[in-house]
Amino acid sequence: MNRIVMTFGLLLVMGFAASAHAADVSEGKSLFQGEKYRCYSCHGKNGEGVSAPGFKGVGKKFSQEEMMKRAAHNCPPTGACNPKELEAIVSYLRTI
Ligand code: HEC
Repeated sequence: MNRIVMTFGLLLVMGFAASAHAADVSEGKSLFQGEKYRCYSCHGKNGEGVSAPGFKGVGKKFSQEEMMKRAAHNCPPTGACNPKELEAIVSYLRTI
């Protein structure tokens, strides 16, 4: 009985983690393509690269942390990028 409850609990937690991640990625995609940060203007609408490097396979090259540092170059001079939004953008870029 306990095992059933535990298995169910675990599946529930895993489900939540997976859906939170999926939401981050799609949020990150719209932020990347949005006007607030304009990442797409140099990196291409789908991260294919225009005047700046593309992101294909970048998730294998850099850790999430390393990418957070590298992605901060375009934060507005008046303030930092919203860290949650930057995290979402990076999560999206790592799926390209
Ligand atoms: C004005 C043009 C421009 C904009 C806008 C811009 N970038 Fe960049 N980005 C660059 C250039 C040029 C490089 C390569 C040189 C460097 O690493 O600084 C780069 C490098 C990067 C890298 C490192 C990639 C690698 O392979 O080394 C990441 C990650 C990144 N940008 C993310 C972002 C994100 C996220 C945004 C939006 C918040 C953004 N960039 C907006 C020009 C831009």
